[in-house]
Amino acid sequence: MPFAAEVYKNRRLRLTKKMEEGVAIIPTSSERTRNNDVAFPYRPDSTFYYLTGFPEPDAVLVVVAGKESKSILFCQPKDPTKEVWTGRRFGPNGAKSTFGFDETYTVDEFDKKMPGLINLKKVYYSVGRNQDFDRRIVEWMRISPAISDVMQITDEMRLIKSSEEIEIMRKAAIISAQAHRHAMQVCRPGMMEYELEAEIGKIFRFSGGDPLHAYPSIVAGGNNACVLHYTENNCVLKDGELVLIDAGCELDGYGSDITRTFPVNGKFTPEQEAVYELALEAQEAAIGKARPGNHVRAPHNAAVRVITKGLAKLRIIRGNVNELIRKRAYYRFFMHGTSHWLGSDVHDAGDYMKGGKWRELRPGMVLTVEPGIYIPIGSKGVSKKWWGIGVRIEDDVLITKNGNEVLTSLVPKTARDIELLMGR
Ligand code: GLY
Ligand code: MN
Ligand code: MN
Repeated sequence: MPFAAEVYKNRRLRLTKKMEEGVAIIPTSSERTRNNDVAFPYRPDSTFYYLTGFPEPDAVLVVVAGKESKSILFCQPKDPTKEVWTGRRFGPNGAKSTFGFDETYTVDEFDKKMPGLINLKKVYYSVGRNQDFDRRIVEWMRISPAISDVMQITDEMRLIKSSEEIEIMRKAAIISAQAHRHAMQVCRPGMMEYELEAEIGKIFRFSGGDPLHAYPSIVAGGNNACVLHYTENNCVLKDGELVLIDAGCELDGYGSDITRTFPVNGKFTPEQEAVYELALEAQEAAIGKARPGNHVRAPHNAAVRVITKGLAKLRIIRGNVNELIRKRAYYRFFMHGTSHWLGSDVHDAGDYMKGGKWRELRPGMVLTVEPGIYIPIGSKGVSKKWWGIGVRIEDDVLITKNGNEVLTSLVPKTARDIELLMGR
């Protein structure tokens, strides 16, 4: 478990303070079969893990709020025969002493215990994330008619990161930054995209901890960069083309998310550099807007203005800048948002709007800043010299009291610094 049991106890206590009298039910995921008797690598549900630090599948956290607040864990029983095959389990006794729950039971006691707990009280539960549980909740709703989405509370808690969480996110960002630097240094024309993907994964695994990938890596040479979720990674990296790498590790349950775009042979062509510099100018303008008091859409708005102006200057789009922004002329080349929350999930919990308005940025929030410009081969009305250029630059940004801290600043970003690192 990444933090002391006390940290999770405090989180559960904070949850009870935000609840009315009632009971919150937060199951973690089960193992999923990949094929026959092979399971996908297990990863706990983010909110369950945030509140417990408990790493095993098939468990349920129940938090009771009211006169007598308490937290109860239902988990898999000890089973020496199974544990020989699939590893040690805490069991209810081990879970109670290690994780500081008030009560623990085996998961097969859940249905027996619950009716007593939810009788006439409000139930906090998030429908639509666990079909098996959803069915049970529908049954129980005959006993307790009031249901509220527990994630409305926990998502807000997860949105503001504590100093312990920020420490882990800094480490995850550094490992990912090292992986991106390494990829720039080993990249050569003629390599396969999956070779670079493997070089990134190697640094994640060799980094001392045991980080996972926060999401499947994108290694996209040339025109492939114009497919936003390209993950085939099975093409040759060609001399004279760019490569876009979007990859980040997950360390102790916290993600990082970095994109860099660089020339396969280490030297930008003038056209690549022009588009690259524009994406970088947009990213820097956007990062400048990521500060307390601004709203969460301010970085995107800044990126849109810079990109629109720049595309007009390069004569990729034509017209008056304000008019082009109003008509969203940039959208054909920059069709995604600039930021998302980052934390336990790569697209982390938390609303982007409050009362119909973009919410204000506050210290402790972490978001990505990732504008892009994509000009696929065949783009009508665009000079061929721009075709096949796709650029995205993505950093992870912590909002601080006075501005922000870029957690991923170890990876070079200016064209010149990239060329230098690549030995050109
Ligand atoms: N890597 C996922 C994203 O950038 O949103
Ligand atoms: Mn991202
Ligand atoms: Mn990304």
